[in-house]
Formats: sequence, structure tokens, C-alpha cells
Amino acid sequence: MLTAQRMRTLPPYIFAEISQEVRTLERQGRSVIDLGISDPNQPPRPSVSRALCEAANTDSSHRYPPSQGTDALRRQIADWYRRRFHVDLDPDREVLVTLGSKEALVHLSLAVVDADGLVLVPDPGYPAYFMPHALFGFDQATVPLTPRNGFLPVVSLVHAGDLERAQLMFVNYPNNPTGAVASREFWNDLVREARRWDFVICSDLAYADLVYEGRAVSVLEIPEARSVAVESITFSKSYNMQGFRLAAMVGAEEILDALWRVESQINSGVYSAIQAAGVRAILEGPSPEVLESYRARRQLLGQGLTDLGLEFEWPRGAVYFWVTIPAGWSDSETYANHLLHEAGIAITPGTAFGPSGADHIRVSYTRPLNDITQALSKWKIMRNTAPLASK
Ligand SMILES: Cc1ncc(COP(=O)(O)O)c(C=O)c1O
Repeated sequence: MLTAQRMRTLPPYIFAEISQEVRTLERQGRSVIDLGISDPNQPPRPSVSRALCEAANTDSSHRYPPSQGTDALRRQIADWYRRRFHVDLDPDREVLVTLGSKEALVHLSLAVVDADGLVLVPDPGYPAYFMPHALFGFDQATVPLTPRNGFLPVVSLVHAGDLERAQLMFVNYPNNPTGAVASREFWNDLVREARRWDFVICSDLAYADLVYEGRAVSVLEIPEARSVAVESITFSKSYNMQGFRLAAMVGAEEILDALWRVESQINSGVYSAIQAAGVRAILEGPSPEVLESYRARRQLLGQGLTDLGLEFEWPRGAVYFWVTIPAGWSDSETYANHLLHEAGIAITPGTAFGPSGADHIRVSYTRPLNDITQALSKWKIMRNTAPLASK
């Protein structure tokens, strides 16, 4: 056996697996509409791509970038926090540029969790939150997100023994996969619990700009959060820059310093031309047309799923519907497989987001209206012809 024991249970990243399966079907001549991964189809603003090219053509762009991120980008991020949330950040000590948010979220655990510590992970939750356990062997305890609690974690329901050992909690609003949005009161209470039990809050604000009801709140709006919380923002969803791999972690200085030390040992920062494009993206803001397109897609897909008789709560933010699988299907993977192979629609089985997803699927709307319309009509045909044997 040439691989480590942990590889016996470590699957590939679910979305890499789905994409591979989609490509295999496409090579066989099948057409597949991918509502699985959230991979925004619209490009960044032309000015952002231009900024990238211009910066790439300067003399020094090939050099290693500063490992905390360029001064210009860190300053822009701090300005954005001030404009957006009235939060003052010191760009030198409270902003760290990262190579996308996924890897920084996983690496954060190396910076704040001891070998005998524990990570609190929302269930359902973004798959990367489960990686500190799967990759580094940290214990984890799942915190259920249920419709009864507005898909918000209730710390008082977590076992006291787990809270005593907890050193990190991942929290994500607007939420993937449920679409829930959290209020300032929620964050206030959570910060109090984090201070009481002495764990770090990592707020994942990936969908800061994709909110349809209410608003995205930053944990850093709570003054006491400054000692216990960090927040992750990404350029992937707001600016359609997911392939650029550009994000930042902001907040508690001590935690960011530890994360910077981990990151600086593992990677060598983000290409400076990409950071220059990030400066342009923040200066111009998300495109209003792109934001409007998400509203239209949400409306079309939500109506279509309702017409199919499926059950879900309308998402208040992010780009997903978290849908209960229809009665008669044993589990989300069987249903997802059937949708892929019989109807040519890729969606994500809920189990990708934790044990509670066994009876859910996640349908994303990062594809154009046309694709969503086509997927819905294929779905309708499949519903009418689904063989009883597979139910
Ligand atoms: C909640 C959440 N956090 C983080 C990410 C990762 O974003 P990035 O492209 O910055 O790695 C995603 C991507 O879908 C996400 O849904």
C-alpha cells in the first residue's frame, strides 16, 4: 500500500467527481446540464480582465508576490469593509489575501486547532469545512441546521463536552446550501458563545453580494468579534473570478498572523496581476446585470421546482435551492444518479454537505435561464416516466 491510511476514506472533492462524470457522459455524446457545481457562467467585467492583462505585461509581475497580499489590494478590501459594513480594518494587520477561500478555510484549522482540539461544522455545510477532520485528523462535531431553527446553528444544543474542546467553528451566511441569511442578533449571540467557550468563529462570507431578502451581515460588525472572529471573503461569486483564485481572510490580528505563517509555509501567494484585477473588481463592484440575472434565475428555477411538486424553502441568499427528494426515493445519491443518467441533469446529492443531506439535493442556478428552462423540461419528462422499480 503506497498511500496513507486516510486515503481509504477520503473521496475526491465532490464537484470534481461530478464534473468528471459529466465529461464522461458528454464524451459519449450525451448532453448534460450542470446544475451541480456553482461555477458562474458569466465572465468578469471586461475592465477586470484588462487590468489583469495590463498588470501581467509589467516588468515585475513575474516575481513572487508579497505573501500577505499587495498593499493596494489589502487597502481596497479594508475600504470595502468600511463602506459596506462600517467596519474599520487595519490593512496591514487585519487583512490577509489568500489563494481562493477554499484552501484558506481548510488551512485555518492548522493555525487554530490543537491535535486534541475539535472543529464545529454546520450540517449541512460547504464540503471544505469537513476537511480539517478528513485531512488533518482533528475531531469534529456537527451542528445541525434545520428549518425549525431558520437553518442557524444553535450552540446551546451542542454537547458541553464538545464545546469545551472546540477551537474553531465554521459559519456561513448567506448559506450554502440552504440559502439562509443570518441577522445581526444571531451574530451577536454567537460571538458571546465563542467568547464564553473560547473558540474561533470563521465566518465564510462567500455570498456577500448575493442576497434577495434582507442583507448580508459581517460578523465583524459586532465589536467583541474583533478578538475571536475571522471572516473569509472571495472574488469568485461577486465578481465571477472563480478561476482567478483570489480571496481574503480578515479580522482578529492574532489569528490572521497564525494563518499567514501557515500559508507562507505552504504557498507563495497570489500572482500580483490577479491581485491588480481584484483591486479593479472591488473598485467597480459587482455588475448590476449579473446580480439581476441571479434574481431571474432564482425565480424561474423556484417556480419550476414548485411545478414539479418538489419541497423547499425559497433561498434568501446565495445561488442554490436545497430541495427535499421526492417521496419514494431511498436517498439523495440514488435520486441524483437517476437525474444524471436518465434526464441529463447534474445536481449535487445532499450527502456532499453532511449526514443531514441524505434526503436533500442541492440545485444551483449559476447557469443561464435557457439551461434552467431545458433542465426543468427534462426533469418533468423524467418525473412522468421514472420507472417504478427505481422508486
Ligand atoms: C460557502 C462557500 N465558501 C467558499 C467557497 C469557495 O470559494 P473559492 O472559489 O474562493 O475557493 C464556496 C464555493 O462554492 C462556497 O460555496
